[in-house]
Amino acid sequence: MARQFSGEKLVIASHNQGKVREIGELLAPFGVETISVAELGLPEPVEDGKTFIANAEIKALAAASKSGLPALADDSGLEVNALSGEPGIFSARWAGPTKDFTIAMTEVNRQLADHEDRRANFTCALTLAWPDGHMESFDGKVFGSVTWPMRGKKGFGYDPLFIPEGHQQTFGEMEPEAKHAMSHRAEAFKQLIDACFPKNG
Ligand code: IMP
Repeated sequence: MARQFSGEKLVIASHNQGKVREIGELLAPFGVETISVAELGLPEPVEDGKTFIANAEIKALAAASKSGLPALADDSGLEVNALSGEPGIFSARWAGPTKDFTIAMTEVNRQLADHEDRRANFTCALTLAWPDGHMESFDGKVFGSVTWPMRGKKGFGYDPLFIPEGHQQTFGEMEPEAKHAMSHRAEAFKQLIDACFPKNG
């Protein structure tokens, strides 16, 4: 059985404002007070894992051991079938040092060129780590396709490029509630909540 989260305060091990906001929204119904590693002034560890889960574990463990509090990390990204799963774990890096996702999305579109196969998915790995080194990890996916040009300003990262299966709007055009009802992050969260937050579920 997974270890239960029993505290009141949870560190969000991300410097990405879009992720911190979405994680806060997803945890709001559970009455958990969150604080980000940026607010605590903690540095970003080197993410040299080979998988989303390995990188989520690196970030969660670093934040938990430095803060002395349980910490939740999200490692996620866009995997494009015709690009052999790229940008994948390098999704943030494709945006370059200025973290400009217009650059990253333009590069996805350039590499896809006239490929007919536009299938893609977002993947989200979540790790909850405790200061004693114990970790619980989960992952979720949402499948869809890549569109061009980019559409919508409501999400973050690659959202303006991604249309989930069975929908017409990109994640960038959808209201946050609509994205939260189907996203990779929501799916991973459901698993985390079921496993580690049962009393609140
Ligand atoms: P990392 O997990 O911090 O290494 O970065 C993952 C990158 O993947 C983010 O910076 C986003 O660009 C992208 N990404 C992850 N989740 C989403 C999402 O829900 N929408 C759009 N882009 C995302």
